Amino acid sequence: MTINDRGTWGSRFGFVLAAAGSAVGLGNIWGFPTKVGQNGGGAFVLVYLACVIFICLPILIAELAIGRHTKSDPVKAYARLRPGTRWWMAGALGVAAGFGVLSFYSVIAGWALAYIWFSATGSVSSGALESATFFTEFTARAPINLMLTFVMLAATAGVLLGGIRSGIERVSKFLMPVLALLLVGLAIRAVTLPGAAEGVAYYLKPDFSKVMNFGTLNAALGQAFFSLSLGLGTMLVYGSYLTRREGIAKAAVMVVVVDTCLALLAGFMIFPSGFSIPGFDPSSQGPGLIFVVLPRLFASLPGGQFFGAAFFILLTLAALTSAISLLEVPVAHFIDSHGWGRSRAVLVVMMATFALAIPSVLASGANDFFTSLPVIGLDFLTVMITVWNDFALPLGGLFTAVFVGYVWRIDNALEELLAEQAWFPGRQFWGLLIRYACPAAIFLIIFGTLQSLIA
Ligand code: TRP
Repeated sequence: MTINDRGTWGSRFGFVLAAAGSAVGLGNIWGFPTKVGQNGGGAFVLVYLACVIFICLPILIAELAIGRHTKSDPVKAYARLRPGTRWWMAGALGVAAGFGVLSFYSVIAGWALAYIWFSATGSVSSGALESATFFTEFTARAPINLMLTFVMLAATAGVLLGGIRSGIERVSKFLMPVLALLLVGLAIRAVTLPGAAEGVAYYLKPDFSKVMNFGTLNAALGQAFFSLSLGLGTMLVYGSYLTRREGIAKAAVMVVVVDTCLALLAGFMIFPSGFSIPGFDPSSQGPGLIFVVLPRLFASLPGGQFFGAAFFILLTLAALTSAISLLEVPVAHFIDSHGWGRSRAVLVVMMATFALAIPSVLASGANDFFTSLPVIGLDFLTVMITVWNDFALPLGGLFTAVFVGYVWRIDNALEELLAEQAWFPGRQFWGLLIRYACPAAIFLIIFGTLQSLIA
């Protein structure tokens, strides 16, 4: 297979929308506001921005550079740059994480899909207890949830069958503007609700007493990492479809700006909405905020069925464009490293991911085994989130930084990054961040997570 058979993006604009589609997902609309709520509002936002600029942007650039240079899936990319070594395993970790992350991501995406219907038909009542019970009872129903997960995976696979330009790029070009419009519309609705000012104040007022601790820094960096789709080889694979004409640094900055703006905008939608409900607790955990608190608001709002449905359409579409990028990592692997055709790769990877998703669906049900695993006592879904998000992704990011900083080396990476006189201000500083700041910061995330699990 020649390099051109793999496919390329049609334009930089197309790449930026596809990569932003990957980045903008449940992490922005659900994860970001939840973390801001749990970690003291505005001050957390500032720490988050610092993590994005100084740690995540450099790694994003590094992943894109490896991808475009090697024009391969993660396993073959590392193997090409350092043949005969074990570096290919860093890529294999990413391919495995693609399966792993998507296996639970698609379950949550399935919930979002169902809530479009529940909102539009006004099935959730405005009572606090009722909306919580509704959510628990709904997620416990295995057959319907297996079907919803399957529908989301099948939609994802359907897009990937179209390939890079007429699959991923075309869908992203259509969905990303729709997503941005929905988000802006909902944020405007939210900030004009009664009691919204309190929510905006909570969101924007920095309380520095809450951020000066290790746990918060850890949460900010982990969130930034996940939100920008790093550490898994997603951006490496998307970079492998870039042509040399498109400057990497400029495209990376655009992706970061879009992802961060949409996360910040999601905060303007969630906090005013939350605070307009009596007795709202901004630090309420887990799925509560999105699947329990907001449906209550929609149930009590004039036109709430419309706004509720719009919100869950937004969530489902955001999840879909991210799921596409997760599935594409193992798909690219089987195409590039094993010579499979695209259709076969897409179908096999999709079915394998579905199989892996089944225990995550059952984790919310009545089956004691999956709701409380032997020895660890946690439910399967939580275990998957911990293993992949909290360990595999940071580890993948650490490998990327160490590989580019010390093995492939900064000057070789810069040669790729500066091809065709590309724009890249602060390139020396980038090298320092990749060699020192990124590995140190990521090491701290992994250490912090281990510590919090043991404590
Ligand atoms: N970034 C997406 C979100 O915010 C999720 C995602 C897609 C992802 N691809 C990824 C996360 C790769 C980590 C790695 O929801």
